[in-house]
Amino acid sequence: MMVTADDIAPRALRAELTARLVSKGWIRTPAVRAAFERVPRHLFVPATVTLADAYADEIVATKRGPDGKTMSSVSAPWLQAYMVEQAEIQPGARVLEIGSGGYNAALIAELAGPQGQIVTVDIDADVTTAARAYLDRAGYPHVHVVHGDGEHGHQTGAPYDAIIITVEAADIPPAIIEQLETDGVIVMPLRMRGITRTLTLRPRGDHLAATAALQCGFVPMQGAGRDLTRRILLRGDAVVLRLDDATEVDAAALAAALDRPRADVWSPVTITMQEGTSFEGLHLWLASQPRPFGTLIIDRERTAGLLDPQDKFTCPTLLSTDSLAYLTMRKTGDNCWQFGAHGFGPDAGTLTSDLIDLLTVWDRDYRPGPAPHITVHPTGTSLPDGDHLRLLVPRRHTTIAVTWPAPAGPR
Ligand SMILES: C[S@@+](CC[C@H](N)C(=O)[O-])C[C@H]1O[C@@H](n2cnc3c(N)ncnc32)[C@H](O)[C@@H]1O
Repeated sequence: MMVTADDIAPRALRAELTARLVSKGWIRTPAVRAAFERVPRHLFVPATVTLADAYADEIVATKRGPDGKTMSSVSAPWLQAYMVEQAEIQPGARVLEIGSGGYNAALIAELAGPQGQIVTVDIDADVTTAARAYLDRAGYPHVHVVHGDGEHGHQTGAPYDAIIITVEAADIPPAIIEQLETDGVIVMPLRMRGITRTLTLRPRGDHLAATAALQCGFVPMQGAGRDLTRRILLRGDAVVLRLDDATEVDAAALAAALDRPRADVWSPVTITMQEGTSFEGLHLWLASQPRPFGTLIIDRERTAGLLDPQDKFTCPTLLSTDSLAYLTMRKTGDNCWQFGAHGFGPDAGTLTSDLIDLLTVWDRDYRPGPAPHITVHPTGTSLPDGDHLRLLVPRRHTTIAVTWPAPAGPR
């Protein structure tokens, strides 16, 4: 093929992106590296997107809903690299992708090689039309693009060695589990009490067990599997409490609680902030407690002076009907921060003190480990027992279990 000047810029940008993903550890294997070096990402974005943006580290939003929220995107390259690495796609593999766009399917096609069979399904006809065109022009006409609801998987083409779901799910439908090879792998973002993790799930007898989990954000599932969190607006959309289970709160009382003085309590637990510092384990630990729980999303500008949660998108929050206490942090030195709790409402004292106790136990027993086991049990199958603490998230088709093993060593 003749190389023109127009090819050189994308090729250089692609090499730089690949090098960044390798240096940050997102790309681990030569096969995934080669796939990133080959697939022309800029051919899978709308013409209005600049070359620099196509090869940046961020997502490229490709479709927005009437409310301005992203409905479809080309996912962030680091997350795509992570997911295809986790899927361990071999030459000749049969792979199903739920949630299309084209680029990720092209990466999968590179990994599966000419003998591979790739199906990518999207519920949105605009997305599948664009994906078909992008895949054709980039040289992947053999990828099968299907317009449909991923809830049903795609029976023609099953069983799959790997199923990669690139849209946030609250549950795993039976078709997905049935269409997986007995030694196959599902890589997908699964939401548990408002906390989403990209899980690598493998069959273990009658259930699936996660062999890896990573914090992430994705657009929510549409169609038959649509299951959004409930959003309680406490100061319009500047303070939103998300509930992901049957927890009942008195929304008016909670909103009024924010007018009362705030209880600030500080823990002995500190954290040193550096690149890669993660709150994943702590968030899931707090979400796993057998008590009313939600997550807070706030607009920092509009709530300055009132609220200061540790995380403005997904802040763990303990609840009673009319009170709340969320996780917070304050700076105490160079890169050093102290965890605490801010509480509002009549139960603020109890909730903040409980949050401090939970922080202390996490610090003593679960930081840095042991990590929780996450398993997914189709409805009607048995659930594990005998472990230390377990969160059960009952969904329509499955129950998700997050089990914290008893801490090692003397306590
Ligand atoms: C983050 S985008 C997919 C990114 C894509 N895999 C890529 O190449 O980067 C998520 C997609 O999931 C699709 N989606 C949402 N619900 C779906 C469903 N039930 N079945 C299939 N696709 C769905 C959306 O239309 C959207 O295009």
